[in-house]
Amino acid sequence: MSALAATLLEKIKSRRARTGVVGLGYVGLPLAVEFGKAGFHTTGIDLDDRKIKAITEGRSYIPDVHTPDVKALRDGGKLDATTDFGIVKELDTINICVPTPLRKTKDPDMSYIVSAVESIATHLHPGMLVCLESTTYPGTTDEVVQPLLEATGLKAGRDFFLAFSPERVDPGNPTFQTHNVPKVVGGLTPHCVDLASALYGTAIKTIVPVSSTRVAEMVKLLENTFRAVNIGLVNELALMCDRMEIDVWEVVEAAKTKPFGFMAFYPGPGLGGHCIPIDPFYLSWKAKQSGFDPRFIELAGHINGGMPHYVVDKVAEALNTKRKAINGSKILIAGVAYKRDIDDMRESPALDVMGLLHARGASVDYVDPFVPVVHGREWPGRFDVKVSDVRKGDFGKYDCIVIVTDHKTFDYEAIVAEADLIVDTRNAIKSPAPNVFKLGAPRPVGEKALA
Ligand SMILES: NC(=O)c1ccc[n+]([C@@H]2O[C@H](COP(=O)([O-])OP(=O)(O)OC[C@H]3O[C@@H](n4cnc5c(N)ncnc54)[C@H](O)[C@@H]3O)[C@@H](O)[C@H]2O)c1
Repeated sequence: MSALAATLLEKIKSRRARTGVVGLGYVGLPLAVEFGKAGFHTTGIDLDDRKIKAITEGRSYIPDVHTPDVKALRDGGKLDATTDFGIVKELDTINICVPTPLRKTKDPDMSYIVSAVESIATHLHPGMLVCLESTTYPGTTDEVVQPLLEATGLKAGRDFFLAFSPERVDPGNPTFQTHNVPKVVGGLTPHCVDLASALYGTAIKTIVPVSSTRVAEMVKLLENTFRAVNIGLVNELALMCDRMEIDVWEVVEAAKTKPFGFMAFYPGPGLGGHCIPIDPFYLSWKAKQSGFDPRFIELAGHINGGMPHYVVDKVAEALNTKRKAINGSKILIAGVAYKRDIDDMRESPALDVMGLLHARGASVDYVDPFVPVVHGREWPGRFDVKVSDVRKGDFGKYDCIVIVTDHKTFDYEAIVAEADLIVDTRNAIKSPAPNVFKLGAPRPVGEKALA
């Protein structure tokens, strides 16, 4: 091992290394907190002043990170935050957790990674370890990050160390959090993977070293493509079941009893979040550059992308039984976050469902305990919508209630008792009722068909 690598390894083992995290969002803040808990002096860097202020005041703004933890680390001198990349001069390691969205054309938007890496490069110094964590296409670390850092004249693997380690955070999951989800690590060289594994090993229980950064990048895309494709499959099954008058939810529950060779995925109103709707397209973009046409990804994207339209068709079908049209109906969307019990609305299918209903002339309200406002820039309606103060006793005011996100705190009993019509896209309402229309299931028993 080179002298630089040996020095860094010793600093990591003794916790004398100064660690840094760039991008303090859903991924970066939990990681910074874990490094702080592991005993490192950790500095978070973000462009967002509000996040820096919150950390400086000892406050968390991510539901999975507890404020007392942030406060204890602040008070103990283990965590600070800044917008100034000048701090990189003092750091031994830096983890990059900035966003990787898709452009409208479904091409990867590398601008956040490029900007963060350029800012790090200005202060890069010999002996540093740089780990990219943002989800991205295979080749990003050696094709994009390495040249930007080597433009400083320092050489990766010799003067500084470079690795890729995909983040697998599952927001809102109380069982699996940053510290107990195995961490896949790929390095540019054997020293790079050893150093990155040593760093992560201080804070995370299980480390899974792989042979290259490209393998590590592909691992993450396989995981998320696996989900996207299986969700696509079960969504197609839901559309099929709807036509064949079979309850897809009952089918999945029964299939799930097979103790081997089956894994349950559930249909829904469409994909949401920062990963599953986006990451497979990073892979298909890169595969196409190699002349390979990835058909599963495109097909799943097509089926999953069509689900909000199917939900709206279901609303039309339900209203039709009451001789009503979407145009002019008052519709309540229950849940706009992309999944249960979290506050993240990125790519949420609820935004598409709201937009489609609005475009067809419905008056659309929403209720969500986690989301106080849907800003105009976030949905196709293009105007701000504030959360409605809808409680028990109010559900009868709507022509139809569409359960898009099955938050645990919703009063489903009151909804079923009061609402005229319900379209349930999540199987949130378990007992059949004549006013409940389920995605991927026969029309409700007892529902009066039009004469
Ligand atoms: N959220 C998840 O569940 C999840 C899970 C696994 C992987 N990921 C991946 O992790 C990465 C980060 O996702 P996230 O959900 O934490 O995003 P996020 O939007 O919550 O946080 C990103 C942060 O980076 C900051 N930022 C942007 N550009 C910057 C720059 N140049 N310098 C410094 N800070 C900058 C933003 O202000 C923001 O605070 C993405 O690639 C995502 O695909 C996310």
